[in-house]
Amino acid sequence: MPGHRIFFCALPLVLLSLAGCELGPESPRGFALPEGDAEAGKQTFVELRCHDCHSAEGVPQRDPEATDIHLPLGGKSTRVTTYAALVTSIINPSHRYSSRLPRSVSTEDGESRMPVYNDLMTVTELIDLVAFLQPQYEVIVISPNSYETYYP
Ligand code: HEC
Repeated sequence: MPGHRIFFCALPLVLLSLAGCELGPESPRGFALPEGDAEAGKQTFVELRCHDCHSAEGVPQRDPEATDIHLPLGGKSTRVTTYAALVTSIINPSHRYSSRLPRSVSTEDGESRMPVYNDLMTVTELIDLVAFLQPQYEVIVISPNSYETYYP
């Protein structure tokens, strides 16, 4: 029966589009770190002295008088809107923001004043940091890309 054939052809497409719906901010296509330990991440946050410049849930800024950078992490951020953006802002602080931020948070040549930790922190520490910070952000749900044919 032709009806059956249409059904079986359409089934994989339906399954694919359902899978597409799962691609919310927590699982950008093809990228996710393993689940981390938020409590360990909180410790790492303190050990690596992230709280020199930031505060986070349960961790006040260490000495706000000692610096002109006071950036509470979490909440609704215009930059950290997805899980991937959060990871990127830790491993590549200068990737897109600093030139648009006030001079106080970037250097003369437009680099972020946030240190690069990539040679200092282990991957496990990164995973745990993200597990600690991610629930503190209100990520904006973005709809997955649409690759339909475009007719001008
Ligand atoms: C010397 C100050 C300083 C330290 C220490 C620091 N940061 Fe930052 N961080 C910044 C600045 C400045 C920004 C602003 C954006 C930029 O320049 O990239 C920032 C941005 C961020 C953001 C994005 C914030 C948002 O909501 O848009 C995250 C997440 C972050 N830092 C995490 C960390 C973590 C984790 C550590 C410790 C491993 C750390 N930072 C240590 C200065 C610092």
